[in-house]
Amino acid sequence: MTQDEMKCDVANSALKYVVPNTIIGVGTGSTANFFIDALATMKDQIIGAVASSLATQERLEGHGITVFDLNEVESMSVYIDGADESDAELNLIKGGGGALTREKIVAAVAEQFVCIADESKLVDVMGEFPLPVEVIPMSSNYVMREITKNIGGTPVLRKGFVTDNGNLILDVGGLKITNPKELENKLNSIVGVVTNGLFASRGADVLLLGTQQGVKTIKL
Ligand code: A5P
Repeated sequence: MTQDEMKCDVANSALKYVVPNTIIGVGTGSTANFFIDALATMKDQIIGAVASSLATQERLEGHGITVFDLNEVESMSVYIDGADESDAELNLIKGGGGALTREKIVAAVAEQFVCIADESKLVDVMGEFPLPVEVIPMSSNYVMREITKNIGGTPVLRKGFVTDNGNLILDVGGLKITNPKELENKLNSIVGVVTNGLFASRGADVLLLGTQQGVKTIKL
């Protein structure tokens, strides 16, 4: 099976977590795109969706799925999204596509977070994938200096990229993330940081992992 086939497989298996007659949250990225295409087959069974990015909104609407502004929505049954890395405790690194802030907000509102990923994303210690950090543009050099001085790793400005919120992304390489909650909080306390791609305070509740042997379900 190719990586895309595993992504497609896992995206299809997430359909069983979609609660009929509710609004669901939908993530961003190539695995989430497979999920959106699968969701289209049962679009009449849901009220609609909240999108974690403009790209996802466009794809959902392209399938005729109603997209709600999060401020119009009080509760969401489930949030379904991919990840760049997951550890065994279902802490995640997200934001490879730069949508981390909206993803984190939507995940916070959802009752359940179902992460969908192919087997390459499950790691022993996170950090091989550079950790994305969204920053207010005027703070980027300051935040890079603070990370280098007080946190470690090598922050690199993502060139030519602006988030849906008009901000910049720093990708922090060379980390070995042994205490994800602590690092998430430390990064968030640097002035100028909007949010970072560690989903540890609110990690996934379920990880559906696409493998060569089929989809595995990992729950805490
Ligand atoms: C988007 O900003 C990310 O958080 C994605 O969820 C993550 O990068 C996974 O993307 P793929 O499904 O394309 O690997």
